[in-house]
Amino acid sequence: MKHLLKMLDLSTDEIIDILNLADQLKYELKHGIPHPHLKGKTLGMIFQKASTRTRVSFETGMYQLGGYPLFLSSNDLQIGRGEPVQDTARVLSRYLSGIMIRTFEQKEVEDLAQYGSIPIINGLTDFCHPCQVLADLMTIREFKGSFDGLKMCFIGDGNNMANSLIVGCLKVGMSVSIACPNDYQPPKEILDFAAGYGDKFEMTDCPKQAAKDADVLITDVWASMGQEGEAEKRKKAFDGYQINDELMALAHSDAMVLHCLPAHREEEITEKVFEAHANEIFEEAENRLHAQKAVMVKLMA
Ligand code: CP
Ligand code: NVA
Repeated sequence: MKHLLKMLDLSTDEIIDILNLADQLKYELKHGIPHPHLKGKTLGMIFQKASTRTRVSFETGMYQLGGYPLFLSSNDLQIGRGEPVQDTARVLSRYLSGIMIRTFEQKEVEDLAQYGSIPIINGLTDFCHPCQVLADLMTIREFKGSFDGLKMCFIGDGNNMANSLIVGCLKVGMSVSIACPNDYQPPKEILDFAAGYGDKFEMTDCPKQAAKDADVLITDVWASMGQEGEAEKRKKAFDGYQINDELMALAHSDAMVLHCLPAHREEEITEKVFEAHANEIFEEAENRLHAQKAVMVKLMA
């Protein structure tokens, strides 16, 4: 494993290795056992979109591993004024040990990896959010003990979160059911991948059908970063695509609920369901730290 660009690139063994190391790093942190695996290393963190969790967890994680994180806002970088990513990659490769990037196009992340010579970590694109899904898988295994026989249900936009969840959950052996409006289905590349898993994957436009007998229910905002201009149109399209009591009643009684955050209460999830599952959702947020530290150790140590 040279980079973390998308879940599609990882084998099941690589995913499980990352989760095992993440569990170990979490244990060590909680027990005051230092783990300076990245002493003397530097991580550049390029942000072309806003972030709370990704920025703070990568920055803190790098510090805990003995390395040095640099926050690089696209407002300040020449990349924000049109310097090609090919040149940025070749320059930054001469200063840094690794780059985390949050941006719009997946191609920009793939280009950084192609033209640079250091590990690249995708901190969210319009296509996927692999760091979030590694944390989600870590949280599911922590609460459920294993992935065996579990069904993950995703309600909402067939966008970055859905794309990575479909791939990640199928790769670790879960079955996946996704409910999204017809005009907001995941891209062909993801549906083609999922088709290879036969009846372990289901897509419907009916949230109730997807939620039936689910063990984990997950949703995401109706309008992602960069789609603010479509917010009103999306509110109409996603009306009813909400995790609420009615949907929870169809899932297994011990079903968990996850949300990558930020959440829009009473849109994709009700306040009541959100608060009833806040322990899971905030453990998920914490696990971003541990999962990403594991990724950085695998790629940069
Ligand atoms: N879930 C997530 O990536 O959060 P941020 O946008 O705050 O980084
Ligand atoms: N789909 C959301 C995820 C945020 C973490 C977005 O891209 O804004």
